[in-house]
Amino acid sequence: MGVFFFYFIYIIAIHFDIVFSLVGFHQCRYGYKDVSDLEGVVAGYANASIPLEVMWTDIDYMDAYKDFTLDPVNFPLDRMKNFTNNLHQNGQKYVLILDPGISINDSYGTYTRGKEADIFIKRDGIPYQGNVWPGNVYFPDFVNPQSEPYWENEIKLFLDQLPVDGLWLDMNEVSNFQTSNPTPNSTLDDPPYKINDAGGHRPILSRTIPGSALHFGNVTEYNVHNLFGMLQAKATNKALTNLTGKRPFVLSRSTFVSSGKYTAHWTGDNGAKWSDLAYSIPGILNFGLFGVPMVGADICGFSGDTNEELCRRWIQLGAFYPFSRDHSDKNSIRQELYVWESVAASAKKVLGLRYRLLPLFYTSMYQAHKNGTPIARPVFFSFPEDTNTYSIYSQFLIGKGVMVSPVLQQGANSVEAYFPAGNWFDLFNYTSVSVDSGKNVTLDAPPDHINVHVHEGNILALQGEALTTQAARNTTFELLVVTGSSNESTGELFLDDGEEVEMGGEGGKWSFVRFRSARAQNGSLVLSSKVENGEFALSQGWIIDKITVLGLDKVNATQSSVSLPIGKEFELELKPNQTLTKPKTYL
Ligand SMILES: *[C@@H]1O[C@H](CO)[C@@H](O)[C@H](O)[C@H]1NC(C)=O
Ligand SMILES: *[C@@H]1O[C@H](CO)[C@@H](O)[C@H](O)[C@H]1NC(C)=O
Ligand SMILES: *[C@@H]1O[C@H](CO)[C@@H](O)[C@H](O)[C@H]1NC(C)=O
Ligand SMILES: *[C@@H]1O[C@H](CO)[C@@H](O)[C@H](O)[C@H]1NC(C)=O
Ligand SMILES: *[C@@H]1O[C@H](CO)[C@@H](O)[C@H](O)[C@H]1NC(C)=O
Ligand SMILES: *[C@@H]1O[C@H](CO)[C@@H](O)[C@H](O)[C@H]1NC(C)=O
Ligand SMILES: *[C@@H]1O[C@H](CO)[C@@H](O)[C@H](O)[C@H]1NC(C)=O
Ligand SMILES: *[C@@H]1O[C@H](CO)[C@@H](O)[C@H](O)[C@H]1NC(C)=O
Ligand SMILES: *[C@@H]1O[C@H](CO)[C@@H](O)[C@H](O)[C@H]1NC(C)=O
Ligand SMILES: *[C@@H]1O[C@H](CO)[C@@H](O)[C@H](O)[C@H]1NC(C)=O
Ligand SMILES: *[C@@H]1O[C@H](CO)[C@@H](O)[C@H](O)[C@H]1NC(C)=O
Ligand SMILES: *[C@@H]1O[C@H](CO)[C@@H](O)[C@H](O)[C@H]1NC(C)=O
Repeated sequence: MGVFFFYFIYIIAIHFDIVFSLVGFHQCRYGYKDVSDLEGVVAGYANASIPLEVMWTDIDYMDAYKDFTLDPVNFPLDRMKNFTNNLHQNGQKYVLILDPGISINDSYGTYTRGKEADIFIKRDGIPYQGNVWPGNVYFPDFVNPQSEPYWENEIKLFLDQLPVDGLWLDMNEVSNFQTSNPTPNSTLDDPPYKINDAGGHRPILSRTIPGSALHFGNVTEYNVHNLFGMLQAKATNKALTNLTGKRPFVLSRSTFVSSGKYTAHWTGDNGAKWSDLAYSIPGILNFGLFGVPMVGADICGFSGDTNEELCRRWIQLGAFYPFSRDHSDKNSIRQELYVWESVAASAKKVLGLRYRLLPLFYTSMYQAHKNGTPIARPVFFSFPEDTNTYSIYSQFLIGKGVMVSPVLQQGANSVEAYFPAGNWFDLFNYTSVSVDSGKNVTLDAPPDHINVHVHEGNILALQGEALTTQAARNTTFELLVVTGSSNESTGELFLDDGEEVEMGGEGGKWSFVRFRSARAQNGSLVLSSKVENGEFALSQGWIIDKITVLGLDKVNATQSSVSLPIGKEFELELKPNQTLTKPKTYL
């Protein structure tokens, strides 16, 4: 059973893609009170020179919490259009929340069209009535094929007014504020077991749609309950793809097997607590293994008040989540990264490194698309022969060779981290940690530092720091070649325009480069590339203008100035203590 399950996940993960810009940093909060509040946050990030890629708005923007509407007083259409345009002009994006419950109200088009199309989940022959933020609601039945055109049309009508860049699907477990009475003697509503729901042994129909409710084709809610979030994400993904002709961005709270094909995921409402900072690592690693590579936890914590130290340590870690978003609850204090000076300083440092690593995050996304491998990986993923790595859940890898070892405890200024054998280099200052066989190492972790190391055998393509991914993409590349006891180092780089529907699709505009270095007998290092579809990279004018070699005696941290077009294959020889000779390049 276990083996079968794994295969299933592996196969379904293959086609997942993510928009390049959404690998940037995101800011959200439940409780932004009006458009001026949103504008102030965007300005706050700009003033503090902290990267901000995507601004988000929770249910606050809606008119009486009705999907596809705008609060005419605090979030009026003209101000919202202006806000969205301004973001777009700065190379930034805007994402809004949607909940599944459709308010029952005859003067609300989304409701009347849903009633007309007859796509609501039913019970006892009539639509099942739940109660969520807008009050009484019906829920679209995404098992019904007619729900897809209905949902697409609602999204279209909304995007025609306000061209947002993605949709965020919340409350889709489905969450319901009321518990309906069970149908007498129904084993669907009251089966002979309880579930450990929210810490209590409750009846399974508690605060959700009862199991006896019916979907299209008389399928019981009991049988498809866990599919709701996945089917809603699928319909949303399809609608956005069809409407925009581009790769869509969808974020969903509820997921199921194959959700990773349609949506990114965040780990839901966490708390602003040190324990939740630590739990976030197994949370994201699990989802990577479940085939949902684009995943993150709410940075600085969602519910309860965060504090300067916790928020600083959280952005240090969260900057390396695949999906990196700060989000907080209405009843908690503000926690945008510029609120505290020390948090802002740390954010600039760590997000600076994240943006230099965008090619690695994005190439890891491409590898997820091709092979089903996660972006954030357990340490054992690259070191399966080292059994000490099997139980590690306080460190993780990005791609195959970048290891993140965060501080997870209040007051700590050092961290004990496990290092599998080999040479490792701190990515901020290239200090090395060298271990013959794997062992625990105590590392300095002063308040503004997180330990991020790259392992020998890797070649990273880095770009420059920037405030948006668009600007980062416009910088030149540096190759960081990390050598060690083994002869060979390798690295991959996937490039496309970031929003073509399929990553690496047939006839698409993309380039894929494999870098390799090997040591020759005479001690020099031979560095070369192999390129698939070089035309795209050449058309963008991307060049490598710096090569840094770490770990090789005599040419340690040699920083050489070159100018190699990424789209052309090259081979060059680095002699001990010498700067580069003119490289040979091949088409
Ligand atoms: C801009 O940032 C500086 C610190 O860098 C701060 O003193 C100032 O209050 C900020 N201004 C605004 C309008 O946020
Ligand atoms: C549009 O946004 C700009 C920049 O924030 C602002 O200066 C201007 O007043 C806004 N215009 C309207 C009509 O809201
Ligand atoms: C129905 O929607 C209209 C228009 O948005 C609103 O004015 C009215 O208050 C709503 N009625 C109920 C019962 O929510
Ligand atoms: C429920 O089951 C009990 C015992 O089997 C039976 O007496 C009762 O009539 C049933 N009630 C309904 C509404 O079917
Ligand atoms: C669903 O059940 C009802 C009532 O039992 C029946 O009339 C209807 O034909 C069924 N529909 C389908 C598609 O099976
Ligand atoms: C895609 O969009 C077109 C035009 O908006 C529409 O006619 C078509 O039905 C949509 N296709 C699907 C599969 O939803
Ligand atoms: C490393 O430290 C952790 C936590 O202190 C411990 O559980 C683990 O056994 C140590 N590993 C080795 C190889 O010493
Ligand atoms: C690099 O950073 C670490 C952590 O702050 C520190 O311990 C180390 O001394 C630094 N090395 C250099 C050469 O600055
Ligand atoms: C990209 O770089 C070119 C040339 O350096 C510059 O003109 C352009 O404004 C840059 N674009 C962005 C988005 O930074
Ligand atoms: C490294 O590998 C290359 C080609 O794979 C080989 O020619 C070379 O001799 C190797 N170097 C060492 C030091 O083993
Ligand atoms: C190069 O780096 C290795 C590994 O950190 C180190 O052992 C060696 O001393 C360095 N060599 C030079 C010339 O700095
Ligand atoms: C190589 O570089 C190192 C450090 O710059 C220097 O000490 C050494 O003398 C150089 N060796 C040769 C052969 O030039």
